[in-house]
Amino acid sequence: MISKEVIEEIKYRNDIEDVISGYVALKRAGSNSNGLCPFHSEKTPSFTVFRSSQSFYCFGCGAGGDVITFIMKAESLDYRGALEFLAKRAGITITEDERDKEQGVRRTRVLEMNREAARFFHETLKNTPEALKYLARRGLDGATIKHFGIGYAPESFNALTNHMHKLGYTDEELKTAFLAGISEKTGRAYDYFRKRIIFPIINTTGEVVAFGGRVTDDSKPKYLNTSDTPAFKKSKNLFALNYAKSHCAERMILCEGYMDVIALHAAGFQNAVATLGTALTAEQARIMKKYTNTVLISYDSDEAGQRAANKAFTLLGEAGLETRILRMEGAKDPDEYIKKFGKLKFQNVIDGSFTRFDYKFLKIISENDIETTQGRVKAAALACEEIANTPSSVEREIYIGKTADKLNISADSLKRDVNRLISRRTRKEQKEQTQKIIMESQGYADRVNPDRIKNLKANSAEEMILGIMLKFHEYIKGVNSGKFDLKAEDFVSDFSRKVFVAVTEAGEDFDIGILNEKFTEAEMARIIKMQVLREGLTVNDKIFADSVNTLKEAGRKNTLSIEEIINKKRNKTNNK
Ligand code: UTP
Ligand code: MN
Repeated sequence: MISKEVIEEIKYRNDIEDVISGYVALKRAGSNSNGLCPFHSEKTPSFTVFRSSQSFYCFGCGAGGDVITFIMKAESLDYRGALEFLAKRAGITITEDERDKEQGVRRTRVLEMNREAARFFHETLKNTPEALKYLARRGLDGATIKHFGIGYAPESFNALTNHMHKLGYTDEELKTAFLAGISEKTGRAYDYFRKRIIFPIINTTGEVVAFGGRVTDDSKPKYLNTSDTPAFKKSKNLFALNYAKSHCAERMILCEGYMDVIALHAAGFQNAVATLGTALTAEQARIMKKYTNTVLISYDSDEAGQRAANKAFTLLGEAGLETRILRMEGAKDPDEYIKKFGKLKFQNVIDGSFTRFDYKFLKIISENDIETTQGRVKAAALACEEIANTPSSVEREIYIGKTADKLNISADSLKRDVNRLISRRTRKEQKEQTQKIIMESQGYADRVNPDRIKNLKANSAEEMILGIMLKFHEYIKGVNSGKFDLKAEDFVSDFSRKVFVAVTEAGEDFDIGILNEKFTEAEMARIIKMQVLREGLTVNDKIFADSVNTLKEAGRKNTLSIEEIINKKRNKTNNK
């Protein structure tokens, strides 16, 4: 743990408005500042920075927190990482206390083990002719094997484990690093990767953080990957980013598989990266945004690949990246394409990369016979759907022109159809939004605080109390000194009670920053909301004491079970 004083200092020297303006164009409006939310796509600003309370809240997506929460989200860092980031920004050195050092040791130890294991696998590969033959058959030469540090895990339950034992690593440590499992029968460690080609995953600072292992035959599963460890988070890493980061100023190529990336790098496309056995995450998209402006999606040409590409399009777009898609005909993935047609042809594919619309339009044209009236009508309808999905009106104009030309339909009538779709969609979205707000205000489907619906009156009193305590710290003191008669047991919902306990435990030197460690992002946003809704409120002891009384009174009335609530509703409607 980093001490409260240090956290306070870090926050003091990182003014929230100053930090956020590095990410969002903010406009001052009274005592707040507004801008477009960096965490969801929107056209009108609902992202608000509250200067006086040094917090932010997005009224569109509900993201919220303090400067630490913001950096955690924007830079894809954990709590600790965000503090380090902000400390560095302000020129503060963080002094570690003991428990913290231990955490650091665990990470360092895992990284040491990984490096050792990578060396072991690489040496083993050199002495395993069948594995080398397999790689040669797949077109990997010695230089590529060396460049990526590719290795081989032998067909043995204890080759690596024994090797690591000799170096002083324990079973428990090997398990933490995901290099070994522990047998339930014998209680002893066994190698996790066996009889597999090993691809080390190296982060941008050159540390071996994880491994991917592929079978050399048809057995299943085809790949095994390291799960999350103290040194690795799958959703925050990309394969080969350690190399790609210095070749992607213009654009980056995003693939599905290890083998695609390796084939591309070997052919001179060193800007290729891949996700690690999972679909692209928002965190990965944000990481890519740090290194490049344009991403070329180069997924498998099968249906699953194309569906994944569609999702990636959205995520990358939301991260503010320009996105294109590569269309490879006659091959299932980039690896196969390069092998079959060579790198010049692949360069042609890159040069002819498609925007999302062009790509979809091509598909529409090929799937509908536009020589027939029926086919043209269908194609036009599908194209209009696609165009209506495009946020930029300039782009929409261009696509309408293209569609009109190709289908020989007047641009005017296409435009009318597109506009009709857009307003229909806006209406639908507004309706859904209203519905959502109603549901939320009634407390349905509330994942952060599922108890809320059971006693709405008590819960709004709880939120008022907590909001005041969060905003005006003298009330924390008031509660702790017994000036107000309020205890954890008085709280009706588990969530509010947890917040109350965290706040009162911290006592006088409470700072909202410390909550980042104890609460999830969604919970954090809710906490900030309680505080934000009290902005501009004049508070005095009487108001606070009244809220406490309201809570106690409402809490005394039995809270309802979900069944009772539903029954009550039903009776009400029946009586109408
Ligand atoms: P693919 O099945 O397309 O594999 O999965 P690939 O990379 O093209 O490999 P080759 O060419 O058949 O050798 C794409 C990616 O999905 C993940 C891996 O990261 C793989 O590279 N994957 C696939 C798994 O994590 N587990 C699996 O069982 C299969
Ligand atoms: Mn593939």
